[in-house]
Amino acid sequence: MNKAATKEKYDLQFASEVDKGLSEHPKHLPTRFIYDDEGSRLFEEIMRLPEYYLTRAEQEIMNTYSGEIASIIGNEKFNLIELGAGNGEKTATLIKQLLEEKKTFRYVPIDISEGAIAALHHELGRQFGNLKIEGINSDYFEGLRWIKDHSGRRNVVLFLGSNIGNFQLDHQHLFMKKLSQCLKPDDYLLIGFDLIKDYELIRRAYFDGAGVTARFNLNLIHRINRELGANFNVEEMGYYSAYNPYKKRNEAYVYSKCDQEVEIKANNKSYKLEAFEPINTEYSYKYSIADTDRLAAEYGFDVKGHFLDSESLFTDALWLRK
Ligand code: AVJ
Repeated sequence: MNKAATKEKYDLQFASEVDKGLSEHPKHLPTRFIYDDEGSRLFEEIMRLPEYYLTRAEQEIMNTYSGEIASIIGNEKFNLIELGAGNGEKTATLIKQLLEEKKTFRYVPIDISEGAIAALHHELGRQFGNLKIEGINSDYFEGLRWIKDHSGRRNVVLFLGSNIGNFQLDHQHLFMKKLSQCLKPDDYLLIGFDLIKDYELIRRAYFDGAGVTARFNLNLIHRINRELGANFNVEEMGYYSAYNPYKKRNEAYVYSKCDQEVEIKANNKSYKLEAFEPINTEYSYKYSIADTDRLAAEYGFDVKGHFLDSESLFTDALWLRK
């Protein structure tokens, strides 16, 4: 698909998923649309928050274990594909190691944010003059198609940041099944999982004192106003978040503090929000090591290593496609 057609399909999906989510009870909104350029910028800010331990823990894992990961990957030529690359800071640590060990590979970051891909080209190009970069501006599922079409050499797929945790369970299943199908025997997957821990620590990571996570979630409402011609009164809206230990997930919601009737021009429709009616915007699933091993087995992978930070907050698991 060409770029304009991809964009058009994406815009139509946005409108129809928002319609679906606001028409259902309980209401919900599609998480992945939080990440326009402003959403991606706010996520960068989240990654620097004192409460948001995930990024620092995973960076520590990369600092400590890049050498070990590089040596397991071996010396055969490969594609280093990153799904949901973001700012690539953690990946830069691994790339530096791979280049130092004179591995032959090209880096293929795939991200939904066009700004993120452009910034990656700029930043990694500057840091590593001889790195081959081929960024792709698309969603995960289209990214999987690229992998399938480029299976002439070994693929090493990075799916970091516990990005898997944002899928609903049925989508997680679909995604893992497709990813597994796209890979061939001896391909690698390095996949990040946020580990189950003190509930309060998790909760605070998604309900920070400075209110950045609130702005991040409410950005979706601003975006609907801007791009779909809606009239949410965002000034009257709030954010709430809590960890649900039964479901092993943090749950994020936005809500209106008063009754609102919202018109969305793109959908030619109005929606009633009751005061304090929750609208789910995001789940962030958490995992035990045993949970991750079960996932590896279920989708046809051998576990080659679990790498953890010094406080066991987070794990990057290295899986080999059987
Ligand atoms: C994109 C999965 C890394 O769920 O932790 C951070 C997104 N949302 N704060 C997560 C997010 C609110 C994040 N990941």
